[in-house]
Formats: sequence, C-alpha cells, structure tokens
Amino acid sequence: MKKLFIVANWKANKTVQSTNEWFDQFAIPSDLSPDKTVIICPPFHLLPIVNMRIREKQLSVSIGAQTVSMFPEGAYTGEIAATQIKEMAEYVIIGHSERRKNFSETDEILVKKVAMAKQAGLKIIYCVPDAQTMIPEGVDIVAYEPIAAIGSGHPDTPENADAVAKTINNKGITSVLYGGSTTAENVHQYTEKESVNGVLVGGASLKPLEFSSMIIQA
Ligand code: PGA
Repeated sequence: MKKLFIVANWKANKTVQSTNEWFDQFAIPSDLSPDKTVIICPPFHLLPIVNMRIREKQLSVSIGAQTVSMFPEGAYTGEIAATQIKEMAEYVIIGHSERRKNFSETDEILVKKVAMAKQAGLKIIYCVPDAQTMIPEGVDIVAYEPIAAIGSGHPDTPENADAVAKTINNKGITSVLYGGSTTAENVHQYTEKESVNGVLVGGASLKPLEFSSMIIQA
C-alpha cells in the first residue's frame, strides 16, 4: 500500500473543553496500516492538551501547527517561533490560502517561514491553490487545495486532483495531498488515485467520529 497522510486542520476552532470532548470520542483502530500517518493540527493554545490526550490514549497520531513565525524567538509580540513549535509538534502547515488571503502572506514571507521551520527541524506541509504556485525549497509535503473547494461542499474532482498532484510530483515533490470539502464519504475517491498521497481535512476533522471514519476509509 502507498503511504497516506490524513491531516486534520482545525483552523481557529475549539476550546480546551471541546478538545477534551473530541478526544473522548475519537478512536483509531489498533491494527491501522502503518502506511497511514494521522496528523492533528490544532490552534497553538491547544498543542499541549492535544499532546497530553494523544499520549494518554496511546494513539499513533502526530501533531502539527497551522502556521509559524517568519522570525526567530525574540521581540515579535504575538508570534510563535519555529523552535517553540518544535517542542510540541513534528509538522507545520505553511501557506494555507486562508493565511495568504486574510494575513497577506506573500511568496516572499512564505519562503522565510519555510526556512525557519526547516531550521528548527519541523516537517512542512505546504499548501498551494494550483499547480503553478511557487513551492519553496525544503518543503516535505504539498497540499493542493483549490480555493473554491475549501469549506464549500464542492470538492475538486478526484481526476483533476490526481492530475495536479502528478504535475507537482514532476517538480520533485513525492507526497502530494488533496484538500477541499473531503468527507468520510468521498475520501477514498481521492486516496485511491495514483498520485494523491492523502488529504488535508478542515470541516470534517472537527467531528471526531467522522474523522475517525475518514482514517479508516482513506
Ligand atoms: P475543508 O478545509 O475540508 O473544510 O474544505 C480544508 C482546508 O482548508 O484545509
């Protein structure tokens, strides 16, 4: 079986209480294929509690942050540096289209973020809205997320996602995920495609039972 990444992007959702409720319900089968890597990316303030719950339930689940500062530790009020994230996460999402749009993150800024994350030893999940968007050096995984498909209930077709993944493969990136309105019902249509190595899941990952089911169906 090929390697698959099933990544939960919680965005700016959940409190400590609702995170605890999520973990009370979330489960993954003990005989889950080792080829499936599950990653949960909560907002920063929940990283410690997500760490704790994963350890407590002995889940084979990795943790990621949703962005990283382009600066090192220091006088940068409100920022979280890569070295600080590294204490609690193995992965970081960089370049999500919501960051590009709402926080004016340009290619230039994203290159700096990738460099900081890389230096700290974080694995980078880099989001692009199409096959033409620049991908900085040092990225480990790319997530293809067409803007119109995000949170809309109108996912891209599995055929097109596969074609875009192939184009990105040709740029030297071996792991390409699809993201945008994936659900437990449609996830397998993407993961069964030759060049799609998993999914980046927003809305559906907020529901513990649906996300559990996505991991099994993928
Ligand atoms: P969605 O979000 O699954 O809610 O469409 C995906 C994403 O933005 O990563």
